[in-house]
Amino acid sequence: MTRLTVPSASTLPSTQERLLDDLSGELRALDDRALRRRLTVVDRVDGPWVEIGGRRLLTWCSNDYLGLAAHPALAEAAASAAREWGVGARASRLLAGSTRWHARLEEGLAAWCGTDAAIVYPSGYLANLGTLGALLSSRDAVFVDRLAHASLVDAIRRTPATLRVFRHNDLSHLAALLARAGGARRRLVVTEGVFSMEGDACPLADLADLADSHETLLYVDDAHGAFVVGATGRGTPEAAGVPHERFLYMATLGKGLGAQGGFVVGPAPLIDYLHNRARTFLYTTALAVPVAAAAVAALRVLAEEPARREVLHRRARRLQERLAKLRLPATAERAASHIVPLVLGSTVRAVEVARRLWERGCWAPAIRPPTVPEGTARLRLSVTALHTEAQIETLVDALADAIK
Ligand SMILES: Cc1ncc(COP(=O)(O)O)c(C=O)c1O
Repeated sequence: MTRLTVPSASTLPSTQERLLDDLSGELRALDDRALRRRLTVVDRVDGPWVEIGGRRLLTWCSNDYLGLAAHPALAEAAASAAREWGVGARASRLLAGSTRWHARLEEGLAAWCGTDAAIVYPSGYLANLGTLGALLSSRDAVFVDRLAHASLVDAIRRTPATLRVFRHNDLSHLAALLARAGGARRRLVVTEGVFSMEGDACPLADLADLADSHETLLYVDDAHGAFVVGATGRGTPEAAGVPHERFLYMATLGKGLGAQGGFVVGPAPLIDYLHNRARTFLYTTALAVPVAAAAVAALRVLAEEPARREVLHRRARRLQERLAKLRLPATAERAASHIVPLVLGSTVRAVEVARRLWERGCWAPAIRPPTVPEGTARLRLSVTALHTEAQIETLVDALADAIK
């Protein structure tokens, strides 16, 4: 058998050495501005606890809001599908990669949202990239909330459509921009349901009315609201009393649902079109079969265990109230959901507070630019249904200490 030799640093081609010099310089510059990020390897997960390098910490940075990722029904569905089908889907969806589990998942998601059809992508990021890429051309204009997630911004920037940015949740600014965009073939407003870094919701009912009155399409990424908010977990549309059919609805399976993947629901012709034109659907291996099976099981668990959502919202309210009493900088408006941002301003301060929290047994890494705007570095505290009231108190005490 031929053995591959890995070149040591000294045998690297000079082009690569120059590249590594450049990259090391850029990493040092990130270090200087407290912007360098590093992976933290988790050794074990146990409910809201993790073990990292022999330390046991309470996690406040997980998007497994309902605690479904380790639910026995999901684990069993994944294990059983793996035994029957293997792990990899073997091909892209349009070749041999569409299994019964993918079809069931898409039927389940469409039924969950009360729409005709659904399309599942291997991740939410790919769902945004593929869908917006397929819908927008140089004849179109797109209007995006200033705080929209990087996957939306990246998706839009890759299209030749005219881009306009409106102030966060500012409908009068959006209306003014729409009024000036007469010539476009298609106009599309892009926003989030529950904002990933702010925890506030878009004013969906008013947005849908505004979009209608300007004959404009609306695209809502509900990654953080889907399965979690609304009386039965149907997401931001349910919370706002607006049917999913009134706009293009996208969400991820990797947060509230505890699985992985992204999806868009809508009328059958839209979904058929995406099957034909969404490049991140066409040119990638289908979602792993055990993950699709686990997501189907998760939809069932959502219906059977509504108490998970109730517990989550009770815990989130508790954290909001406790932080408000402590006068920590999570304003009432910022702390409106299970995502509670604690805006600290400078990156150095955010990193320092996160470090002190870590020492006190709580894990909530600093969120820094470019993930959030310059000068708004923060801790993004995410509450889950796995946290107990006592653990919320532990966090608040640790925060009060760390922030002094
Ligand atoms: C608002 C928003 N959209 C899309 C995504 C991407 O979803 P996924 O993690 O499934 O790729 C995220 C994830 O962080 C998100 O916060």
